[in-house]
Amino acid sequence: MRNLNQQTITEAVIERFADTPSPRLKKILTCLVQHMHDFAREVELTEDEWMQGIEFLTRTGQKCDGNRQEFILLSDTLGLSMLTVAMNHDKPAGCTEATVFGPFHVECAPHFDNGADIANGAEGEPCAVRGTVRGVDGEPVAGAVLDVWQADATGHYDVQYEALDAPRNRGVLVSDSDGRFSFRTVAAVAYPIPVDGPVGDMLRATGRHPWRPAHLHFMVRADGYETLVTHVFRRDDPYLDSDAVFGVRESLIGEWVPQPGGGYALEFDLVLNPDGKAPLAGNATTRISQKAGA
Ligand code: BEZ
Ligand code: FE
Repeated sequence: MRNLNQQTITEAVIERFADTPSPRLKKILTCLVQHMHDFAREVELTEDEWMQGIEFLTRTGQKCDGNRQEFILLSDTLGLSMLTVAMNHDKPAGCTEATVFGPFHVECAPHFDNGADIANGAEGEPCAVRGTVRGVDGEPVAGAVLDVWQADATGHYDVQYEALDAPRNRGVLVSDSDGRFSFRTVAAVAYPIPVDGPVGDMLRATGRHPWRPAHLHFMVRADGYETLVTHVFRRDDPYLDSDAVFGVRESLIGEWVPQPGGGYALEFDLVLNPDGKAPLAGNATTRISQKAGA
């Protein structure tokens, strides 16, 4: 245990976790140490670089508060969030695929009847959305609870405005007896993720852009089905192949169809995975959500 060198130190650290009561924790820490040490050896990490990394992570933590989660944004932009979603929501063919949750969900959004305008005055061109919630065998899912949220025409979510006293472009709807849902909102546009923190510094230092392609968020819950957290992406968006958080899947691309009288219509069906049919169980809804009105 003395005179450890750059090779033997890894095994010595791993050995220190030998008595970890939880086998899962033991595995995670063992792998973390192994990969972290291998990484440091592979890149020949200097002390200056180690300190820069510590300072970057410190700034990342300092940027976090009740409304801002810079660590999740870092995970999103490094592709770790999407990798975790993909591993934990590997569904049977035909199910709507899952994607990242994002930081702009609000718990306890206002409830609306089908057909309602959820925009509540948000800036943007009108867009009528409708679809059916189905199971993978084609059965309509009545009573599914759909949480929907999206940015306005300036690319901002309601929670990003300091002085808004009521939610905009978000709401909770329930599918009818045929599984159908409908609501009115504004047309989705591309927007940049927040870049006023260390994640923005990382994007600038690496020549990456911060844009997400235009999308509409859904979280769909129904008894007997796996909760679905997803977006529908707009087919004509230039950022579909370079989403800052790697969330685009071909099957999630929908058509915002221009209407003769102005505005758009989007029709998109959401196909749920019956509980227990996922190869690996998981639930993305444990992500930090904001409180309504925050
Ligand atoms: C979003 O789509 O709301 C989002 C997702 C990940 C990072 C930032 C925003
Ligand atoms: Fe979004």
